[in-house]
Amino acid sequence: MRYSTAFDLSGQVAVVTGGASGIGLESARALGQCGAAIELVDFNPATLAAAADTLRQEGVNVATSVVDVTDPKQVNAAAEQIFKRAGRVDTLLNSAGIAQLHTAVDISDEDWRRVMDVNVNGTFWCCRAFGARMIEAGGGSIVNMGSMSGTIINRPQFASSYMASKGAIHQLTKALAVEWAQSGVRVNALAPGYVATEMTLAMRARPELFNTWLDMTPMGRLAEPQEIASLVVFLASAASSYMTGSIVAVDGGYTSI
Ligand SMILES: NC(=O)c1ccc[n+]([C@@H]2O[C@H](COP(=O)([O-])OP(=O)(O)OC[C@H]3O[C@@H](n4cnc5c(N)ncnc54)[C@H](O)[C@@H]3O)[C@@H](O)[C@H]2O)c1
Repeated sequence: MRYSTAFDLSGQVAVVTGGASGIGLESARALGQCGAAIELVDFNPATLAAAADTLRQEGVNVATSVVDVTDPKQVNAAAEQIFKRAGRVDTLLNSAGIAQLHTAVDISDEDWRRVMDVNVNGTFWCCRAFGARMIEAGGGSIVNMGSMSGTIINRPQFASSYMASKGAIHQLTKALAVEWAQSGVRVNALAPGYVATEMTLAMRARPELFNTWLDMTPMGRLAEPQEIASLVVFLASAASSYMTGSIVAVDGGYTSI
């Protein structure tokens, strides 16, 4: 490996779910800047089209698929179509995810199921559909979006569905990593702390939450999406070739205290 070219993804194809916004969009930009052709996946057609336009204007090669990751039929069809169209998939980033604040007593059955369905089931359907084809092709890198919430419990807000879903993503990541370790398919997860995206926008506007977050984060600030995207590039690249089953914290020191 030449270290100076380890992050060159030229000729590769990267699929990014939740690619219309936040960490997914920024990671698509980062992977694209490193040379990968991007298959951008999201269930929101309007934001997906706008995100793809923005990336194209920046010179990134982008194709789009409107997919609700909670529907395994849609996910399987998209995987088939993308492999047919692009000929290969080297990286899958599962960034589609949702969060809700609620107390355990008050959350509705539907809301609980929705968080699990998007975050856990959606991640699994995508890992399975793309992973199976990566195994056939002889390798690939899957990056799941975990969270520090898969390890610690956020405060002062309550969101047991989110904590449970992210813990499940961490364990799913390790289970698939071990199952597929001999196939050339690597499976890792990122565990970000608070990131300045749409997901945290309304919460950041509440000083009683935001000030506690800053107090509890040793670096005293949130992450910018770029600070997560650079790790996605690392996990996609040959530079991380011996990493699988890792849950990589990127949280400004939050889980160190
Ligand atoms: N923002 C944070 O502080 C933070 C911290 C740790 C982990 N994460 C995780 O990072 C990931 C991305 O979060 P973000 O902050 O970029 O949020 P975001 O809201 O900006 O982006 C999420 C994207 O996922 C898409 N999406 C939601 N449900 C979908 C579905 N059923 N099918 C397809 N697409 C769907 C949305 O349309 C949106 O484009 C999530 O998994 C989130 O849990 C975020």
